[in-house]
Amino acid sequence: MTGSPTNFWQERFEKKQTGWDRDATSPQLLAWLESGALQPCRIAVPGCGSGWEVAELARRGFEAIGIGYTPAADEWTRALLTAQGLSGDVVQADVLTYQPGKPFDAIYEQTCLCALHPDHWVNYARQLRQWLKPRGSIWALFMQMTRPESTSEGVIAGPAYHCDINAMRAIFSAQDWVWPKPPYAKVLNSNVSYELGLHLMLHQER
Ligand SMILES: C[S@@+](CC[C@H](N)C(=O)[O-])C[C@H]1O[C@@H](n2cnc3c(N)ncnc32)[C@H](O)[C@@H]1O
Repeated sequence: MTGSPTNFWQERFEKKQTGWDRDATSPQLLAWLESGALQPCRIAVPGCGSGWEVAELARRGFEAIGIGYTPAADEWTRALLTAQGLSGDVVQADVLTYQPGKPFDAIYEQTCLCALHPDHWVNYARQLRQWLKPRGSIWALFMQMTRPESTSEGVIAGPAYHCDINAMRAIFSAQDWVWPKPPYAKVLNSNVSYELGLHLMLHQER
C-alpha cells in the first residue's frame, strides 16, 4: 500500500489544482541557500511537484534529483530543467519504496510528508534515513494544517495532513537526529496554512 494513488496527484496536476504550488522557489530554500547554510552537494527532493526547488538547486551547482510520483508533475519538472539548460534530474518513483543508486548528502523535504497518510510516516522517515550518507541532513518544511475535526475529534484529514511537531519528533527520533531548538522559521504556504522550516542533522557517530 502506498499513500494517495498516483491518479489522485496526476489529476491535480492535469487540472492545475495545485494550490500549494508557489509558482516559484520556496523563500525558505532561498534563505538557506543565500545564508550559505545549505551548500552544493548531492541532494534529493522527494515529491518535488513542479520542480521549482530542483531547478533552483541545480542552478546553484547541486546534484539535484527530484523524486516525483506522477507523469504530469515530472514533465513539468523536466520542462523547467530543459528550458533553463540545467542538469538536474527527476526520477519517477514512490518515495515509500525508492532506493537511490548512490546515497545522498542531503534531502530537501518540502511538503511530501504531508502528502502521505500518517500510516506511512514511520516508513517514510526510515526511507529518508536510509537514503543519506552517515553525516547527512534533512532540510524540512513541515506543513501545519490544523483542522477543528482533527484537534477536537481525532479525525485524520488530508492530504495535506497536519505535520504536528510532536509527531515529527517521534518519527525523526532525537536518538538519530540533532533537533534545533524552536522557534522555527514560519513559511506561509497559502491563505490557510504555513510550514515550519528546520534543519535536522544525523548524529555524527551514526
Ligand atoms: C503537496 S505536493 C508538494 C509538491 C512540492 N514539494 C511543492 O512544495 O510544491 C506533494 C507532492 O508529493 C508527491 N507525492 C505524493 N505521494 C508520493 C509518493 N508516494 N511518492 C512520490 N511522490 C509523492 C505528489 O505527486 C506531489 O507532487
